[in-house]
Amino acid sequence: MRVKTGIEGFDELIEGGLLKDRQYLVSGSPGSGKSTFGVQFLAFGALAGEAGAYMALSESMDTIIEDMSRYNLHIEELVNKKKLFFLELGPAAQYAEYEEVSTLITPNYEQHTAESSDSAPPTPQSVFMNVEAVVKQHNIKRLVIDSLSSIRFTSSHVALEEKSINRFIRNLKTLGCTTLLLSELTKPDAYTIEQFASHGVIFLHNFMDNQRGMVRAVQIIKMRGTKHDCEMRGIEFTNKGLIVLKPLKKY
Ligand SMILES: Nc1ncnc2c1ncn2[C@@H]1O[C@H](COP(=O)(O)OP(=O)(O)OP(=O)(O)O)[C@@H](O)[C@H]1O
Ligand SMILES: [Mg+2]
Repeated sequence: MRVKTGIEGFDELIEGGLLKDRQYLVSGSPGSGKSTFGVQFLAFGALAGEAGAYMALSESMDTIIEDMSRYNLHIEELVNKKKLFFLELGPAAQYAEYEEVSTLITPNYEQHTAESSDSAPPTPQSVFMNVEAVVKQHNIKRLVIDSLSSIRFTSSHVALEEKSINRFIRNLKTLGCTTLLLSELTKPDAYTIEQFASHGVIFLHNFMDNQRGMVRAVQIIKMRGTKHDCEMRGIEFTNKGLIVLKPLKKY
């Protein structure tokens, strides 16, 4: 089954939408539109009755709501109707609210280890447990995690980091949500662990070009089980969020 993102010009590039209950990476440079893309996806589902949650790890929930409310996406109405949730999972001290609700522990994640420091980035375990609690409590069907880059995956050894990211994404798969994992695009020419682990990878570009000036674009890098467009397509920010335009001219 295909889950429409509702982003104008995008769904037709991926056979009508994302595959239900899969995990997708939306990777981009600063200000490239990751949050906008995520909120459009949630708002579109929420308007059709599917509850969505935006888990903010890198920015405060209030800032995200304030910025995203500038778009005409009915954010306030959807939040009031409890179809759209914005939750903050920042440094340890701020996600205590949901810790109590996280009583269900999946077999894949053992006992939750307490954070060592209030300012340390959250661990995949703590993020997963909080996300799981929210998903169950509000019957969430669409999920955005902003961002994967803000989670403290084990980095002592590349093999351990790979295992940790894979495990996190596998655990998310058990939740029954279609998920967008937002992430920083640091090396567009190098493949990363999270790109291999996700079911699909979408790049958002935002760069200066000598001839074209500021270029904003979207590109589908990978979409398992889907015949997809591979072009770099222009994007434009409108009052309804971003829209996808025609392929950028090659020269
Ligand atoms: N209401 C708006 N109307 C038009 N364009 C907007 C609006 N709000 C934001 N933008 C554009 O979108 C850009 C940021 O979008 P967004 O916050 O989705 O990016 P991001 O990739 O999540 O950024 P970050 O890396 O900081 O998290 C802004 O820099 C601005 O150019
Ligand atoms: Mg953002």
